[in-house]
Amino acid sequence: MSLQERSATERVQEARERYVARGISTPPLVVERAEGARIWDAEGREYIDFAGGLGCANLGHNLPAVVDAVHAQVDRYMHQCFMVGMYEPYIEVCRRLAELSPCRGSDQKSVLLSSGAEAIENAVKVARVATGRPAVIVFDNAFHGRTLLTMTMTSKVVPYKAGFGPFAPEVYRTPAPYPFRGVSEDDAIEGLKHLFKGDVDPHSVACAVLEPVQGEGGFIPMTPDFPRRLQELLDHYGILYVNDEVQSGCGRTGPVWAIEHYGVEPDLLVSGKTLGGGLPLAAVTGRAEVMDTVPPGGLGGTFGGNPLACAAAAAILDALAEQRPRAEQIGARLRERLEAMAPAGSEVRGLGPMVALELPEQTGEETARITAAAREQGLMLLSCGIYGNVIRILVPFTIGDVELERGLDILEAVLRA
Ligand SMILES: Cc1ncc(COP(=O)(O)O)c(C=O)c1O
Repeated sequence: MSLQERSATERVQEARERYVARGISTPPLVVERAEGARIWDAEGREYIDFAGGLGCANLGHNLPAVVDAVHAQVDRYMHQCFMVGMYEPYIEVCRRLAELSPCRGSDQKSVLLSSGAEAIENAVKVARVATGRPAVIVFDNAFHGRTLLTMTMTSKVVPYKAGFGPFAPEVYRTPAPYPFRGVSEDDAIEGLKHLFKGDVDPHSVACAVLEPVQGEGGFIPMTPDFPRRLQELLDHYGILYVNDEVQSGCGRTGPVWAIEHYGVEPDLLVSGKTLGGGLPLAAVTGRAEVMDTVPPGGLGGTFGGNPLACAAAAAILDALAEQRPRAEQIGARLRERLEAMAPAGSEVRGLGPMVALELPEQTGEETARITAAAREQGLMLLSCGIYGNVIRILVPFTIGDVELERGLDILEAVLRA
C-alpha cells in the first residue's frame, strides 16, 4: 500500500511502533483535538470522553479560563526553576492550597512537584524527617505511582511491578476495606493491628498512605468510619496520615477533596492530575510544623511548580468551587444509569461522581471487550481494578446532559452486547 492510501491513524500508529517503547500501552486512537468532554481523532471522528485524560480533566479539556491563563503566562516566561529565581504563580498556588487544605492545623504550606508519584515520594520524605522514622504503611489495592518507591507502594504486580524489583525497603502492606470482595472495615483495622504485632514496630513507622477512594485499584471508597478509626490508631503511635488525592481530589468526588466526605483531617495531602489543568503539576500540603522539618535544599526539582502549570492551577482552583452542584448531579445520574444496566452479580460503587461498575468475573477480558467496543462506537472509557474487571468513569463535569446520556447509552449497548 502506498503512503497516501494509509489513514492518518495508521501512519501515526506505524511510527509509534517504530519509535516509541513497547512498555507504554496505547489504544489504537490518535487524538487530533479535544474540548470539554469531547475528543476528535485523526480521521475526524468524535468521541465522548469518559476517561478525562486519566483523571486530569475533571473540568474538561481546554477550559477557557485555563487556556487564557496559560497564554498570558507564556508571554511572561515559561520556566525559571523555583530554586534559581522565585516567581509569584508558584507562591499563589501554595496560598490557594493552604486555603483549601483539608489537613490539620491552620498554617498550611506546600511544595510543588511535576507528577503524582514524585509528590508521594516527597510526602514520604517529609514524613520521615518529621518523625525520624523509616517505615511506611500502605494498603491492598493501592496505586501510588511507577517510580521505585511508589511502585513498591503500589499493589498490583502485572503490569506495575513484574520484573522491576528489587523494591524499596521499609514498605509494609495491610488490608483496606473492600466489602464487595469480603474485606470489612473491622478486617482492615484488625489487619493493621496484626501488622504492628507481626511485622513492623509501630514506633518505627513514619506514615501511612491511603487513597480515600482507591483509584487504579478499582474505585473502592473507604468505608464511612475507616479513615477515622485508622487515624485514631495512627495518632496513638505518632504516625502521620498521608491522604493520597492524586485521583480522587480536585472535585472528582464532589467536594474539592474526597477526605471531606469522612470528616477526618489528615496530616499531609498529596494532589495532582486535574490540579494542573492538563499541565504536569502535583503538590504536598500540610501544617508548617511538619512541612518545615525539612531543611532548605531538601525538597525541590528542576521543573516542580513550572510557571505555566501554576498559572493553569490557579484557574482550576478558582473554578473548582463552582463545579460542585453539577458534579453531584452527574454523580447521581451515573449511579442511577449504571445500577439499571449492571449485570447480575456486579457492583456499582463510588463516591459522588467518582463511580464505577465492577463485574463479577475476576479477569479483565470482559472489560477489555467493553472498552474496545465503546471506543468503536465513539465513547472513551477506562477499566481499572486489581483484576482489571472494573469500568470506571472519569467524565469531565463540563459535559452536557445530551452527551452524558449518549455516552451512557453507548456503555449500556456494549455492556449488553
Ligand atoms: C492515587 C494516585 N496516586 C498517585 C498516582 C501517580 O501519579 P502520576 O501518574 O502523576 O505519577 C496516581 C496516578 O494514577 C494515582 O491515581
